[in-house]
Amino acid sequence: MAARIALKRALPSTRSAFTHSPQQPPRFITRPFSASLPSLAPNPNPSTSASSSPSSSSTSSSSAPDYAIPDPTRPTHFGYETVTEGEKRERVAGVFTSVAESYDRMNDLMSFGWHRVWKDHFVASLNPGFSPLTPGPDPRGPQHILDIAGGTGDIAFRMLHTAHVVNANPAVRVTISDINRAMLTVGKQRSTTLPASQQASLSFVEANAENLSQTRPLHPYPSPIEPTTHDAHGNTEQAFFDPATSTASIPSASVDLYTVAFGIRNFSNIPAALREAYRVLKPGGVFACLEFSKADAHPVFNALYKEWSFRAIPLIGQLVAADRDSYQYLVESIERFPSQAEFRDMIVDAGFVVAGDGWEDLTGGVAAIHKGMKPRA
Ligand SMILES: C[S@@+](CC[C@H](N)C(=O)[O-])C[C@H]1O[C@@H](n2cnc3c(N)ncnc32)[C@H](O)[C@@H]1O
Repeated sequence: MAARIALKRALPSTRSAFTHSPQQPPRFITRPFSASLPSLAPNPNPSTSASSSPSSSSTSSSSAPDYAIPDPTRPTHFGYETVTEGEKRERVAGVFTSVAESYDRMNDLMSFGWHRVWKDHFVASLNPGFSPLTPGPDPRGPQHILDIAGGTGDIAFRMLHTAHVVNANPAVRVTISDINRAMLTVGKQRSTTLPASQQASLSFVEANAENLSQTRPLHPYPSPIEPTTHDAHGNTEQAFFDPATSTASIPSASVDLYTVAFGIRNFSNIPAALREAYRVLKPGGVFACLEFSKADAHPVFNALYKEWSFRAIPLIGQLVAADRDSYQYLVESIERFPSQAEFRDMIVDAGFVVAGDGWEDLTGGVAAIHKGMKPRA
């Protein structure tokens, strides 16, 4: 009961979004924590979701492998290809290093600007600056927001604007974390146009979302000061974070709000990332994810959308960014991401409590927002 009351307070704007009929009382879904999620087993049929049925996760035996522990040799998928988790990490890093400079322009072209609407709605629905975890009657207390896979900063900048300007709460700070230094470096450059007070509330951290106990502050890419053979293995400078160079950890129970937008489908091990989200969030803290999803409920619209995705987007990538392969991967990764309900079940299996169905569809399900709360005790 305590968790339900806390969730109502923590997710004030999700009730109407998650509950189809305003006459119905809100529903809450919880499940005992289970780290064994066979949800990223390779799927030989690209037309179906990457995730196993939720029921299989809840019936897995205690001797089953722990899928929430990253294993660089375990099979997963990279678009329609089956690769190991380690290989996926490197190839995803290659994709985002390749697209970093053109990323923001391509986002507008590929989505007709819709990604801005979705991001605005995502941030508004979270209402940063008003923290249900703040003790006392005024909810405008300090708040630490961790924007994972934050890339070039779109979510973090919106968070800061809403918190500092709309909600007049300068006590909100945002950490942008990403595995890719090239993406973060573009974000850091973009952040120089923010008001000074917002810049002062922003920090950039290199980290793999699957293990947030190993991080370091952003070293801009390409590095003006580091030698080209800087990394621990003597390799030529790479754009993605090398855990061997980590200097700090994101402490457990230190984050009020964890956000991830259009990042999680690129992770090699989603259960591991969800487990880390759960670890770093304070009890009562909120996990919020904006990601491409399934528009299957609208067959005609869905057919047109798929046609656009698979024909136009790789072509635009080729013409505008001279990079067809990266954009081919991006559309395939969208196709392989679990359905709304399957992803909701992964969030619940990681220990979060969700309200109603657990997600909100945007533009007929082309994208969806999932939220979950870490129970207070
Ligand atoms: C499509 S971009 C999204 C950027 C930003 N959140 C936005 O909405 O514009 C995906 C980001 O996920 C990052 N990423 C991929 N795998 C990651 C991982 N394992 N840990 C952290 N970030 C990761 C990529 O480097 C990239 O910056």
